[in-house]
Amino acid sequence: MEDIESLLSQMTWEEKVGQMQQLSAGATPKEIFEAFKEKGEIGSFLHVLGVETGSFLEASSRSRMKIPPIFGIDAIHGHALLKGATVFPSQLAMACTWNEEMIEKVGEITAKEVAADGLNWVFSPVLCLGRDLRWGRIDETFGEDALLASRMGAAIIKGYQKDGLVAACAKHYLGYGEATGGRDAYDTEISERKAREVFLKPFKAAVDAGCMTFMTAYGSIDATPLTTNHRYLTEILKDEYGFDGFVVTDWENFRSLVTGQKVAKDMDEACVMGVKAGNDMSMNSDEFYDALLRAVKEGRIEEEIVNDCVRRILRVKQRLGLLDENKPSRPGREVIGCKEHQDFNYQVAKESAVLLKNNGVLPFKGAKRIAVIGPNADDVRAQYGDWTYFSHPMPKPWESGKEGVYTILKGIEAVYTESEVTYAKGCSINDSDPDSMLSEAVEVAKDADVIVVVLGDSLSQNGEYRDRANLALSGKQNELLCALKTLQKPLICVLVNGKPLVIDEVTKDADAIIEVFNGGDQCGLALAHLLKGDENFSGKLPISFPYDSSATPCYYNQYDYWHGGRYIDIPSGSPYPFGFGLSYSQFAISNLRLSKPTVKLGESFKLSLRLENVSSREGNDVVQLYFKDKVCQILTPIRSLLDFQKVFVPANGSIEVEFALSTNQLGYYDPNCHYVVDPGEFEFFVSDDGTHFKTICLTVE
Ligand code: NOJ
Repeated sequence: MEDIESLLSQMTWEEKVGQMQQLSAGATPKEIFEAFKEKGEIGSFLHVLGVETGSFLEASSRSRMKIPPIFGIDAIHGHALLKGATVFPSQLAMACTWNEEMIEKVGEITAKEVAADGLNWVFSPVLCLGRDLRWGRIDETFGEDALLASRMGAAIIKGYQKDGLVAACAKHYLGYGEATGGRDAYDTEISERKAREVFLKPFKAAVDAGCMTFMTAYGSIDATPLTTNHRYLTEILKDEYGFDGFVVTDWENFRSLVTGQKVAKDMDEACVMGVKAGNDMSMNSDEFYDALLRAVKEGRIEEEIVNDCVRRILRVKQRLGLLDENKPSRPGREVIGCKEHQDFNYQVAKESAVLLKNNGVLPFKGAKRIAVIGPNADDVRAQYGDWTYFSHPMPKPWESGKEGVYTILKGIEAVYTESEVTYAKGCSINDSDPDSMLSEAVEVAKDADVIVVVLGDSLSQNGEYRDRANLALSGKQNELLCALKTLQKPLICVLVNGKPLVIDEVTKDADAIIEVFNGGDQCGLALAHLLKGDENFSGKLPISFPYDSSATPCYYNQYDYWHGGRYIDIPSGSPYPFGFGLSYSQFAISNLRLSKPTVKLGESFKLSLRLENVSSREGNDVVQLYFKDKVCQILTPIRSLLDFQKVFVPANGSIEVEFALSTNQLGYYDPNCHYVVDPGEFEFFVSDDGTHFKTICLTVE
């Protein structure tokens, strides 16, 4: 194993700064890119697929130091930029499973496919919180809650890094999802106290889970770009949390300091500011190399700062075995998209689906004719969502879908073999289509016994630069729904979308509603088995739905004391809140108890309950434990998720669920940013649907 200090001592400044440069072929002028590539001294490339890595590795093996580049890829929900790899449900969909073991395995499988493709770094997970639904990247988050995101994030990081072949990347550090007005890459107005209370938590959990890299957010916090934010990048992340991997900027962050945020007069200044703040590697901005080299040589940046960046990059390369003479062996390409991975993907899709409403129509079997209607019934792009071979590195509108993907229509056709399945699109997501499309759909549905209508949004409504002011179902989707409603048949609505939308019309018209978000390759098959009752629902929302576009944010853990507690023209809260999700089983929580009613500060205690399955259908349920410090010197949320467990309960059976807790978990950050636990009364809330709660109080002395 190479000794990093000895390597560092042999390197020239050119070689060192080269390690700090990451380049993408698509974003760099061809001649510049080729010259850098040929030199073989560049630290990293992104969006290169496995088949293309050979010439990059060959160039680095010809270089003096022979340090191979690390290849970064946006494997966000599976290695989905590679056509043929397993495409898992989006992060938001995965979060509906509330199943850490499952999410860890998603990470492990993704890393296997990435490694088999010859790559070694995934730009995942996204640990921003999805609290402002207008933001274009809600689909990439684990939802609105810091604890859930921390647990899901830590799980997927462990999975990615399990075999030691792939590094994870916690992004986007920090506050990106909370930008004012839900505006992508805009300024975020949060105090450090608030950051610690909420937004830093998942990132701290990522450090604790051993995440090897971090990515700096595009935006700013209180007008200081994250790219130049020494406080967050160096003092908190590296010094306080002890993060010893490296930080990469997001796409051209250094250049944006000059062209967009206008805090640096030129690239020379921008690069010095950014590296001094704590960025170790520059994503793109190919001028970075010359600018930083000039700065070191002219003494405008301390040598030790640059050495530390390179040390961190080499450390990660060392951990991945890239510096070893005998490189670690990788799985063979046959694992990419293999049956075992797709079978597991089916399980993830199944647990990701959330049943929002069921007036008894589900499960349904034995229908003679099923009409599958709607713009997202047979649309692979919409079902995949962002960050797949359709959309990145460049949009590829000409790209066709891969084989073996179950859209909702294909899944229903495969599972309901005894039924005649008919299909009509009805309308598009965006366009104002001719009314004839609607009437054609009504015609197709009129003789059906059951109608499954699949609505939602499209790729063009999610992602970077794609914030929405209007969260209503777009185009003629509501009209389509109303037209189908007039047929007076059982009407089941499936939502395929990147984020919660305003679905009041759906709530009114549909007999059953299922949210699948962007469910990946196996979504349609899993959904069809769920509809038929071969499988049971267990998904719970990681994010709240809004009553209206202007009623966002609507996350559950808001503060008390809003005069009136709601907008006067809509109900309070959320129609389908965080934690909500139905099942074919019926569960009842009872016998809530504490191991002791009073504890001393620092003491441990247990909270237990009985979870009964009062139905004849076995099932999984998510027991959610929330708490509230009843009186506190500053505002605390009406309740905060403290812990959760996903458990299996046999039909007509019951289990005991126990949470091992400590008073140390019951604190908050005071105005001086110190974590404190105040003695006094604490209330615990237990629920399995985010709407009904059993409560119990604890006194801390
Ligand atoms: C932009 C995105 O913000 C980030 O999430 C992604 O990983 C990088 N660019 C690389 O594609």
